[in-house]
This record gives sequence, C-alpha cells and structure tokens, in this order.
Amino acid sequence: MKTTKLVILIMMIALALFLILPNLSWAQDAATVYKTKCAACHGADLGGKPAAKIPSLVSDDAKKLSDADLTDAITNGGKDKKASHAFANKGVTPDQVKMVVSYIREAQKK
Ligand code: HEC
Repeated sequence: MKTTKLVILIMMIALALFLILPNLSWAQDAATVYKTKCAACHGADLGGKPAAKIPSLVSDDAKKLSDADLTDAITNGGKDKKASHAFANKGVTPDQVKMVVSYIREAQKK
C-alpha cells in the first residue's frame, strides 16, 4: 500500500516536471530565439529584406557560408565586427547561436 502511494507520488512529480520544463526560459528553442532576435530584420521566412540591404539567410550565397562564418556573423558581427550585429553582447548564448545556425541550415534545405 505504502509503495503504491510512493510510486504515484513519483509519477506525479515526473509529470509536473515534464509539463513545466519546456516553458522555462533557458529551454527556449531555436525557432523562439530566431523569432524574438532575428525575424524583425531577416524576416519570418529568413528571406531578408533586399530593400533595406538585409541579406537573405536562405539564398545561394548564404548556403555557401560555413557554419563558422554563420556563427561569427551572429556572435561577433562577422568580418567587419559590426557591433550592432554582435549578438554575444545582446543576450544570445553560444548554445543559442549553435541552435540558430542549425535552424538556418534546416530552412536552407527547404
Ligand atoms: C537590426 C537588424 C538585424 C537583426 C535583428 C539581425 N540581423 Fe543579421 N544581418 C543584418 C544585416 C544588415 C546584415 C548584413 C551584414 C551587416 O552589414 O551587418 C546581417 C547579416 C547576417 C548574417 C551574414 C549573412 C551573409 O550573407 O553574410 C547572418 C548569418 C545573420 N545576419 C544572421 C542573423 C541572426 C541569426 C540573427 C538573430 C540572432 C540576426 N541576424 C539578427 C541585420 C540584422
């Protein structure tokens, strides 16, 4: 009888964690990072805004960039070290940059 109650308790805790964890801010997924930090400029479809000289992230040129190039562009502002594009200083963690790079790669395959 006692064991049954304990098992039920453990299952309830497991279920609670399962429901709560994805909603914690550190568990943000790549799509959320992209939507909140990048989409305003590069567009929800990653197509960029040619009129505003914002490059597409799914163009043939963007496909040729290496993962290191993408990571550098996002983290440090690329070759020119553009401060306004150095997201390492704007609350985007290295892990999130990595996730966003994969997100861009996935979008490039479509
Ligand atoms: C304020 C507008 C803006 C935001 C926000 C922004 N970008 Fe950019 N991004 C640009 C512009 C403009 C360039 C062109 C290079 C330059 O002049 O900085 C660029 C360049 C890039 C490049 C290099 C592309 C190439 O062809 O060389 C990548 C990759 C990139 N951005 C990814 C991102 C990601 C990922 C985010 C979100 C973390 C982001 N950008 C947020 C405006 C923005």
